Amino acid sequence: VPTTVNLRIPGPTPLPDRVREAGAQQMVNHRGPEFRELINRVTARLQTAFVTRNDILILTASGTGGLEAAVVNFLSPGDPILAVSIGSFGDRFAKIATAYGADVTKVDVEWGQAASADLVARELRALAGNGKPAKAILLTHNETSTGVENPLREIVAAVHAESPDTLLLIDGISGLGAVPFETDGWGLDVVATGSQKSWMSPPGLAMISVSERAWKATEAAQMPRFYFDLVKARKSMATGETPWTPAVGVLFAMDVALEMLEAEGYEHIFARHAACAAAAQSGLTALGFKLFAQPAHASKTVTAAWLPEGVDWSALNKLMRSRGLVVAGGQDRLAGQILRVGHLGDVTPDDVIAAIEVIGESLTELGREVDVAAAVSAARGAGAMPAATEERSPAVVSGA
Ligand SMILES: Cc1ncc(COP(=O)(O)O)c(C=O)c1O
Repeated sequence: VPTTVNLRIPGPTPLPDRVREAGAQQMVNHRGPEFRELINRVTARLQTAFVTRNDILILTASGTGGLEAAVVNFLSPGDPILAVSIGSFGDRFAKIATAYGADVTKVDVEWGQAASADLVARELRALAGNGKPAKAILLTHNETSTGVENPLREIVAAVHAESPDTLLLIDGISGLGAVPFETDGWGLDVVATGSQKSWMSPPGLAMISVSERAWKATEAAQMPRFYFDLVKARKSMATGETPWTPAVGVLFAMDVALEMLEAEGYEHIFARHAACAAAAQSGLTALGFKLFAQPAHASKTVTAAWLPEGVDWSALNKLMRSRGLVVAGGQDRLAGQILRVGHLGDVTPDDVIAAIEVIGESLTELGREVDVAAAVSAARGAGAMPAATEERSPAVVSGA
């Protein structure tokens, strides 16, 4: 196993040294003043990143816990809801609602495509026409399994116009923090994300914003809940605490990560992720891969591509790993058919270019005729960034 690894999966992501060091700090009392200051500071910084004045609660859970909280606090068994799925994670969101007894109408968009405002408006109209106006809609912002970003702004505008009382519950797990996103400007009721994605932090925390309208909905919501009770979480947060013992070390890390993100500036972060995505798309295409996502809606945080005809995933993966590159394979029905290059968090175009080079060398070793130098140069051309970002050190994990 190489001593340095270019970890290019869509979360967990490589951490900046400062973030890793922060996570190694000695524990504090989670019912004491140090923790109170910490969680209040992190929450305020998250409000900046979410572009919201809504409450943000920090849960000790992976992103899926955030999705579960987004369902069980606002709905009752039997509530009609519309779940719009464009991949595995959209399916998961719908499954959570089904598990808790919601009356779920699921719309499946062909994998690789984004949902559209028209489709969503039509489905909401159909539900209302059947006497089941949607209490809530479940939407994925960035579908990590297919590398597709939904045009969320347009879709939610259509929801507000077509069905103004429908609550908007958003899986923002793998896009928020990396691309422009406006919780309040777009009128989003509940938005969940996870610390291991664009936040340059270890896994362990789900962060969730809740609108006033959504808080009202909690009063009538009958779905069972205990650990993920957001009303309890809100009460605790009033005194700078969490109801249960939080992942203190992850909060230490995220505090520093958010400080670093703010210092870089979100506009610059968005440009950096766009440059990484462009580098990945161009590099993979030059290596003969067919990109999986509809180009207009390709994700800025993960690029998925069909494996070239005749290329065996496990053989390719083994060769990439032997060269220190770890990328993700396909999930569910895409297992063995696609690869996914994650480019979110503390990532630069150079990290992506390095990945393209290794993918090319590995294909060459498998006997494919590819022009690695041309692919590297295509990635470099597409991923050109403003000078300041070039100075960031490549996000390579030492000793992994
Ligand atoms: C869009 C999306 N939703 C949900 C999840 C699930 O998050 P977790 O694995 O942290 O539970 C992920 C994680 O990859 C994701 O990318």
